[in-house]
Amino acid sequence: MFEYRLDDTHSLRPADLADAEALAHAVAANREHLLPWLPDHVLATPQAWLAERAAEMARGAGFAATVWRGGELAGVIWTSKLDVAHRKAQVHFWLVRDACGRGIMTRSLAAVLEHLFAQRGLHRATVRAPAGHPRVRPLLERLGFVHEGVIRESVWRDGTPCDDDLFGLLAREFRRPLP
Ligand SMILES: CC(C)(COP(=O)(O)OP(=O)(O)OC[C@H]1O[C@@H](n2cnc3c(N)ncnc32)[C@H](O)[C@@H]1OP(=O)(O)O)[C@@H](O)C(=O)NCCC(=O)NCCS
Repeated sequence: MFEYRLDDTHSLRPADLADAEALAHAVAANREHLLPWLPDHVLATPQAWLAERAAEMARGAGFAATVWRGGELAGVIWTSKLDVAHRKAQVHFWLVRDACGRGIMTRSLAAVLEHLFAQRGLHRATVRAPAGHPRVRPLLERLGFVHEGVIRESVWRDGTPCDDDLFGLLAREFRRPLP
């Protein structure tokens, strides 16, 4: 069973349709914090977005986990483009503002990567983030990710084509954080 205690107050568990209300509340309460970084779809229709993740998980085509602080949802991690043939997936994540700065995502992402590499047999994980995102690079490098390059002008934000940074991690490069 995939379930982790992250510290005295935070835990991580697989995403579930029953989390829809907590997800909608977290997104609404953190709109300004999340708006610059998340796809509109997640912000506009969290319930529908969660239903898609649950359906993907049910058919083995993806994995999603939620971070909890007591009964409040504090973040989400999920895969896209899970490619069984080539043993790779792209990983996405966010935390509510109050959960940032404590190493919660470092430990959460490590638990999800451990699951993807050890249980699901993946060989490679990638993360795409808006170029120069101030928090993502240190977080990923702590876990062994390598900055593999810039995907030029691939995403339109506010009517402007913007660059994404691409980070990659091979299973053998994964650095598990100390407990
Ligand atoms: C990206 C995001 C998850 C990073 O959050 P974060 O708080 O920087 O990451 P962590 O939870 O791993 O915490 C790391 C911080 O906690 C500190 N920390 C405290 N205890 C720690 C521990 N045991 N282990 C690791 N770090 C610890 C670290 O020093 C670091 O702080 P610093 O950078 O000031 O030195 C968060 O900024 C976010 O959700 N932003 C909005 C959405 C977003 O941008 N998503 C990504 C789009 S690709």
